[in-house]
Formats: sequence, structure tokens, C-alpha cells
Amino acid sequence: MVDILKINNLTVEYYTRRGTARAVDRVFLNLEENKTLGLAGESGCGKSTLGRSIMRIVQYPGRIVEGEILFNIKEDIGSNKRMIGRGEVNIVELSEEQMRTLRGKEMAYIFQDPMTSLNPMLSIGQHFTQLIEAHDSNIEEEAALERGQEILDSLGILPERITDYPHQFSGGMRQRVMIGLGLALRPKLLISDEPTTSLDVVVEAQILEEMAELKEKFNLTMILITHNLGVLAQTADNIAIMYAGRLMEVAATDVLFGDPQHPYTQELLKSVPDVSKPEKKLSWIPGAPPDLLDPPQGCMFHLRCPYVMEICGEVVPPLTSSKTGGTVACHLYTGG
Ligand SMILES: Nc1ncnc2c1ncn2[C@@H]1O[C@H](COP(=O)(O)OP(=O)(O)OP(=O)(O)O)[C@@H](O)[C@H]1O
Ligand code: SF4
Ligand SMILES: [Mg+2]
Repeated sequence: MVDILKINNLTVEYYTRRGTARAVDRVFLNLEENKTLGLAGESGCGKSTLGRSIMRIVQYPGRIVEGEILFNIKEDIGSNKRMIGRGEVNIVELSEEQMRTLRGKEMAYIFQDPMTSLNPMLSIGQHFTQLIEAHDSNIEEEAALERGQEILDSLGILPERITDYPHQFSGGMRQRVMIGLGLALRPKLLISDEPTTSLDVVVEAQILEEMAELKEKFNLTMILITHNLGVLAQTADNIAIMYAGRLMEVAATDVLFGDPQHPYTQELLKSVPDVSKPEKKLSWIPGAPPDLLDPPQGCMFHLRCPYVMEICGEVVPPLTSSKTGGTVACHLYTGG
């Protein structure tokens, strides 16, 4: 198995007037080629910041302050390239020009809200041609349109609708168009940030199934960001759980659901409804995630954890191998 992406010790901070918020805190994560990694956790825990860091599109006033993001590229990225080993580049060190070559072609990002990402003045066809021509000046407009139509067709949208404008589509169709645009340059890695959150459950299920088919068809590796663990149960091969900027647990999906190791994962799963177990009582985690401008010492979860020990408020638990084959950051497993 080849790792397409290796994140080492990544730290991202936002510099605000009220202080510094560390949204991604010393994260280590590997992503295997052709697999789907689910990134989950409560709102504000750093999921989008981590996803955006990989594309180097962290929003102002955020900045990558430490760490490396090693990515396996398929093509040369220009004379200014800094290749590391066999086709591996460190995203953190690339120039903005090199990043522009990489974005779209090697990796693409699908945002949550298609209405703000699509230009209401342009037809869907124009979105496709502008994007494709910006990266490939040799391609004819007709060929770019044809590629767009082929992608729309795979997403269940009639190819002739390529001449329509964003407002002529339903919410689900617009999200499909966004996914299609993400695939237009045939990237290896697709990062989807809450792609179905604003949709009803039926359309959500359809789109997730289509995404799984596209993943096979286009040989994609995917990162699926969501706060909905139910969505990940059906789509992800592995799941990474984040809390207050830190990784708490990473495991294969069936293992994470069957035998969660981290107390935070255990508490999160108690709040996921299960239609096959109507007798299951749903619960929520008392309290709220910490303020990242004034984080607690030690384990970020210690103020809400049912197993809290003295060491938890003092020492940050390291990420260690878990007995279920994943990794976990908790003093219950460090002899604490
Ligand atoms: N533009 C910004 N300015 C200042 N701080 C920010 C900004 N964006 C994010 N942050 C900080 O980074 C933290 C993580 O934000 P991020 O958007 O990555 O979380 P998330 O897990 O994607 O949340 P959600 O599920 O709500 O999308 C926030 O809690 C906030 O402290
Ligand atoms: S380190 Fe301590 S507080 Fe944190 S999850 Fe583990 S037991 Fe709970
Ligand atoms: Mg987000």
C-alpha cells in the first residue's frame, strides 16, 4: 500500500485581535492511496483548517506554523520544483506558483456551499471550460465541454444541461456540479468538506453513493470531512477523530465503530442514532469544547472526560498505537 499523503507534526494557528488560536495542533496522519479517510469531530475542532492546509488555502488570519505535508505528485510541477524522494513534495515549502499547478490537477477541494462557490453569471459549461483551459492551454473549448458533459453524466445530470446556469439547478444538483468541477482536472486526491450537510437525507444518500462510484471510476483518494459519523460509517475506510485541534483517535471504520478506544470517540458514538437498535438511548457530551484562545493544559478533553485522572490536566497524552491497530491519544493507554 502506498501512502499518497503524509502529514507530520502539522500546526496551524489563527492570529486574531483576541489572541492566537491553535486550530491544528501537532497532527500526524497518513493517507493510503485509493482509500477514503473520514475526518470527524465537533464544530470548531479544526477539520476544515486541516483539510485546507493540505491545499494551502488556510483562510486569513491563519498560517501553517510548523510541520510538513508530504504529497506524492504524478506530474512535474515546473522548473522551480523541489522534489523529495520519488515524486514526493512538501506542500508547506512549495511556492504559490507551484501550488497553483497542483490545485485542481493533483488535488481538489469541494466546499460546503455550492451557491457561494459557483458564479451565478456563468453557465455550468463556462465553469468547466474556464477551469480546464486555465490548466491546459492546448485543450479546445469543445473538448473541455465534452469532458464536462461526461462528468455531469456520471453524476446523473443530463449532459445537455451544461448550458444551464447555477440558479436553474436544485441544491443537490448544484452540489453534484461542484463535485464534477472538482473532478474536471482528474485529481488524485479529493477533499470534500461537508459535501452533503445542507441536503436532505435522500439526496445525501444518493450523492454519497455517486461519490463512491466516482472514486472507483477516477481512481481517487478521498478525505471526507463531516461532523456526521453516520455518513462515515457508509463511506470511509478509516476515520480520524479530532478534538480542539488535536487528533484523538485514528482507526479503520469498522474497528472505530465496534471497539472505540478513546473516551471522546466513545462519547461521540453514544450520540449517533442507530435504526437497528431503537432501544438505544441517545446521549450528548456535557459541557463544550475548550476555547482555543485559552486552551486547558494536558488533554484537551479532560474537562468533559468520564475517566479523567490527575495526569490528564497536566500532560498532553501522546498519540500511541492502539490494541485495535489504530492510534489513540489518551493516558488510559500510556500507563498514566
Ligand atoms: N477565519 C478565522 N479567524 C479566526 N479563527 C478561526 C478562523 N477560522 C477558524 N478559526 C479557529 O479555528 C478553529 C477551527 O476552525 P475550523 O473551521 O477548522 O473547524 P471545523 O472543525 O471545520 O468546524 P465546523 O464543523 O464548524 O466546520 C475554530 O474553532 C476557530 O477557533
Ligand atoms: S487523557 Fe485522560 S482526560 Fe484525556 S481522554 Fe484520556 S482519560 Fe480522558
Ligand atoms: Mg469546517
